[in-house]
Amino acid sequence: MDSSINKELFKPDVYMKCICCGSSFSPDPWRFFCPKCGCLLQPVLTATINVSWSKFRKRRIGVWRYRELLPLSSKLEPVSLDEGGTPLIRLRSTGVGEAYIKFEGANPTGSFKDRGMTIGVTIAKHIGVKGVIVASTGNTAASAAAYAARAGLSCVILLPKGRVALGKLAQALLHGAQVKEVEGSFDNALDEVLNEYVKKGQKELYPLNSYNPWRLEGQKTIAYEIIDELGFVPDVVIVPVGNAGNISAIWKGFDELYELGLANKKPRMIGVQAEGASPLVRTWMEKSKELLVVNNPETIATAIRIGRPVNWMKALKAVNESNGAFISVSDDEILEAMKNLAMLEGIGVEPASAASLAGYKKALGIGIVDKGETVVLIGTGHALKDPDTILRIANWKTK
Ligand code: F0G
Repeated sequence: MDSSINKELFKPDVYMKCICCGSSFSPDPWRFFCPKCGCLLQPVLTATINVSWSKFRKRRIGVWRYRELLPLSSKLEPVSLDEGGTPLIRLRSTGVGEAYIKFEGANPTGSFKDRGMTIGVTIAKHIGVKGVIVASTGNTAASAAAYAARAGLSCVILLPKGRVALGKLAQALLHGAQVKEVEGSFDNALDEVLNEYVKKGQKELYPLNSYNPWRLEGQKTIAYEIIDELGFVPDVVIVPVGNAGNISAIWKGFDELYELGLANKKPRMIGVQAEGASPLVRTWMEKSKELLVVNNPETIATAIRIGRPVNWMKALKAVNESNGAFISVSDDEILEAMKNLAMLEGIGVEPASAASLAGYKKALGIGIVDKGETVVLIGTGHALKDPDTILRIANWKTK
């Protein structure tokens, strides 16, 4: 990559740091893994940044409100659909304690992925690629397709065959993506992107899965918005976990605000996985140094049907550093939580998102969260993403 393009893309004081060996590198949109040890990289901003909540609050709420804390040059015009600024809704009936849901279903394509795509596709647009490519359980696909369309780029999507919720597939097609179905799970689709495109060094399609650390920089704004809106730091944040990019990104966001003096503490992070797709729960419980892979992940929450999360090390760090936990919930508990949110609170989320409420209830039950603590659940995707599951649980038959 021409280093003059990198200088235009990134803020002058940004570098990339390996999460394992700590080596640092100049920012490069195409560098995803540490060339020394193969681990993932994380962007770091070095400058003393002159920011304050009052400065942020003069701008419209959303990802770009926090522009100083994003790695892209302030001169760059973002590819944006006005993502972020999602509702933080206080639970009335289902929250046993002081609980809120950050309703990421209110993003332009109905999931938190839009926060990352605004950064990822902005990069893609400025580095002269033909298009973008992602493997996906559905939401990343829908989001990548929409942002690529907005940027005038093509979009190639690899999906686990027959296992993507209808709303997400329909969105990807609507926005003109080229869809390829892959046998197996998301893990196989991601392997194909890595082996057939990324590792071959092609530079036509920019890969936007969550090993791309620049995309995750957009997702960290979930943490910024939570503190911005609450006016304080919650005790606990509960996140449904699949490929584990989001929990890592949100933790990075909290950590940064604390380091900058914009927050007086950091929350405990609780990651929730479905029982049939819980590699991180097992790895964390058994204190394994290696990821305990799940070979045939299975759950009704297809968004998080993942057995080999690429961000597993970052996610373990988030949970361990924050003194949090990983917990698993059954499909029945997920569906129960989804119904409760819909019928008692009026909030429609897809099954994976309901895992956060199911996890909260479990966490209260086993005593790792106290009733008096303030908790934020991440409601990652909209109910309309997965109409089939809704019709099935409602036992609906067209008469
Ligand atoms: N919730 C929803 C609705 C998701 O779509 C995803 C991930 C997650 C939670 C988990 O986030 O992977 O960062 O741990 N969906 C990806 C996709 C895998 O392809 O749409 P994660």
